[in-house]
Amino acid sequence: MSDRKFNVAVVGATGAVGNQMITCLGERNFPIKSVKFLASARSAGRELRFRGDLVPVEELTEKSFEGVEIAIFSAGGGTSEKFASVAAKSGAVVVDNSSQWRMDPDIPLVVPEVNPHAIAGYTKKGIIANPNCSTIQMVVALNPIYREAGIRRIVVATYQAVSGTGKKAIDELFDQTRSMINFLPFDKKVYPHRIAFNALPHIDKFENNGYTKEEMKMVKETRKIFEDDSIGVTATTVRVPVFYSHSEAVNVETLKPISAERVRELLLVAPGVKVVDDPANDVYPMAIDAAGQDATLVGRIRKDISIENGIDMWVVADNIRKGAATNAVQIAEVLAKEYL
Ligand code: A2P
Repeated sequence: MSDRKFNVAVVGATGAVGNQMITCLGERNFPIKSVKFLASARSAGRELRFRGDLVPVEELTEKSFEGVEIAIFSAGGGTSEKFASVAAKSGAVVVDNSSQWRMDPDIPLVVPEVNPHAIAGYTKKGIIANPNCSTIQMVVALNPIYREAGIRRIVVATYQAVSGTGKKAIDELFDQTRSMINFLPFDKKVYPHRIAFNALPHIDKFENNGYTKEEMKMVKETRKIFEDDSIGVTATTVRVPVFYSHSEAVNVETLKPISAERVRELLLVAPGVKVVDDPANDVYPMAIDAAGQDATLVGRIRKDISIENGIDMWVVADNIRKGAATNAVQIAEVLAKEYL
């Protein structure tokens, strides 16, 4: 355990996730000696507020990481591919929110509520990967079930907010909605189809097996985080016209029998989980309630009537907070406390 303070850089500081990372660092009182906010040349000179001070945004270059001890990246896979190793070589430990390094066997993929021990592996490449937003909230909810009853198979369908695509997508949903209710023509730049008043079963690129990359991320990342390749996972990921928070219909088949009551009991004390489950009073997790908080909300917990050992639940979390920024900052907290 150390009481040290750190020189921290946020890469992609002007983006939807980067901005939330800055907020999380402040809210959670991260032990900071100095901060550096990095983005593309387009943003150089802009100022962002941190703990009451205005901090200038600097252009990301190969020299940006001198003296930086922890660098939290959320500037897309290309930027991470190019600059994460530059940061690591110059002595920083990188926590990377992109999908670039997640499946590298020498890079830990971490959800602190589930596999914090994996952080120890950061020494191999100086990089720790933050999982995909949809995976994070699902494994937070499944972890207590996995520990008690094991998991044979997961069937998940997601209802994902546009903020996961970044600021441009938030603007596109807003502009299209405004245009449509005013009977005006609209633009479509971010998604291949209109997102306003629609649902798109298409997140990230299609792969040869008919799944999308996003769906395969849920498959591969879940197994890596639980360190268990025997878990079967099938996912359908859908973009919906919601600004913040992903919702997921999760069906899990366990190895040992477990009742819905026991699942509820386990989830009531599970770290990072809030049980919101009183259907008789119309109480269940909703995107509008999860937005702005760090907890993963779980409700509609019930026995799957179609198989012997099955549980169904509805899992909702703020994709920018727990699905990205909060999880990354939590990783950095464990790293700072236990390892640096
Ligand atoms: P910028 O605002 O200067 O373009 P979002 O996912 O919300 O679109 O945000 C992406 C973040 O990644 C922004 O902070 C963006 O900076 C940053 N970014 C994108 N491309 C680069 C790049 N080539 N170098 C540095 N930062 C980048």
